[in-house]
Amino acid sequence: MFKDVSGVQPREQNLWPSVVVPKEQIDLQIERLIDVPMPENGRRATRIVHPCATAPGYGFAPGIDVTINVLKPGERTFSLRKNSNMVEICLSGTGVTTCNGVQTRASKWDVWNVPSMNVHSYFNDGKEPWVRLSYSNAPLLENLEIHYVEEFEGGIPPSDIGKVKKDEPAEAKVRARDLALREQITPEGAWLLGYEWLIDIDVIESKALHWPWAKVAEKLPSVEDIAKGYNGRRLFVLYNPATERRIGTTHSFFATISSSPPNNHHIPHRHSSAAMNYYLRGHGYSKVGTERMEWKAGDLILSAPGWAMHSHHSGDETTSALTIQDHPLQIAMESLIWQERINEPILNLGSQSGFESNRAQFVTA
Ligand SMILES: [Fe+2]
Repeated sequence: MFKDVSGVQPREQNLWPSVVVPKEQIDLQIERLIDVPMPENGRRATRIVHPCATAPGYGFAPGIDVTINVLKPGERTFSLRKNSNMVEICLSGTGVTTCNGVQTRASKWDVWNVPSMNVHSYFNDGKEPWVRLSYSNAPLLENLEIHYVEEFEGGIPPSDIGKVKKDEPAEAKVRARDLALREQITPEGAWLLGYEWLIDIDVIESKALHWPWAKVAEKLPSVEDIAKGYNGRRLFVLYNPATERRIGTTHSFFATISSSPPNNHHIPHRHSSAAMNYYLRGHGYSKVGTERMEWKAGDLILSAPGWAMHSHHSGDETTSALTIQDHPLQIAMESLIWQERINEPILNLGSQSGFESNRAQFVTA
């Protein structure tokens, strides 16, 4: 099949409108999940689906899904191994996540990541329902028709049973790729590498990490208290060093926790990364394109459909949000375009020098 695209103009992008999912609706879903019979795999879960979403994927943004998960006391899930990755936040209750054999206890507003292909499961050993929100890149992988998911009981994926395990390379062992061609062929920097370079990539360990709320909260006053007039964002990235210069929490997403004083106003900006905010405390409004959206603690908002101009404004209380954006993914694709202020150029972050804030004016010696 062929399609004539001679002289065709670029397609206008269909920006999904910003939507607010109110706390009350999320709470109703949590109550419903508590009441349904426990499914065999232990997963009481509701996907929060954007009205524009279609199969496959059913995301809250085109490439990102958000799922409400509930486990009642004493319940545990089957194990999962999948090539999507996740950021999760505990909304209430407590429980234990086991990720490649390592157990992490999570309580309210703790955030953690689940790396791709880590065997993971959940257990509620507490006394109240354990509720968490999970964000993943599954919709993107579903649309690429490459989402690999195995679900099973126990810690060993059935597909691993009976397979030969590769020995860990000895320190001095010569790798096959070291025997293959590795040569720069132009002065500008074009190289040739042999096949083995494709199948034996240098490894950066991708760990399951945990950001306890108590430790994050300790640091929040330091951003909230920066004087009025600061034109950056009052937040911390929950940084996973495996993402290196792409400044992520997983290889797909950054997660940030903010703390904005009352009546804090952003000037509009835009980025090709999609952003969603879950408000932990406070209330306020966002301007997204020509729309104004009101929100409060416990609401989830698709706050920046990719490339929509937007700004966020806190009301008369301190406001905190968990923000998830597919920023590291887009840096890897060299697609992360960003315009921090309307009078500044559009920059390709990671390939061009980025923006400056006016933080220097507020640093005290
Ligand atoms: Fe933004």
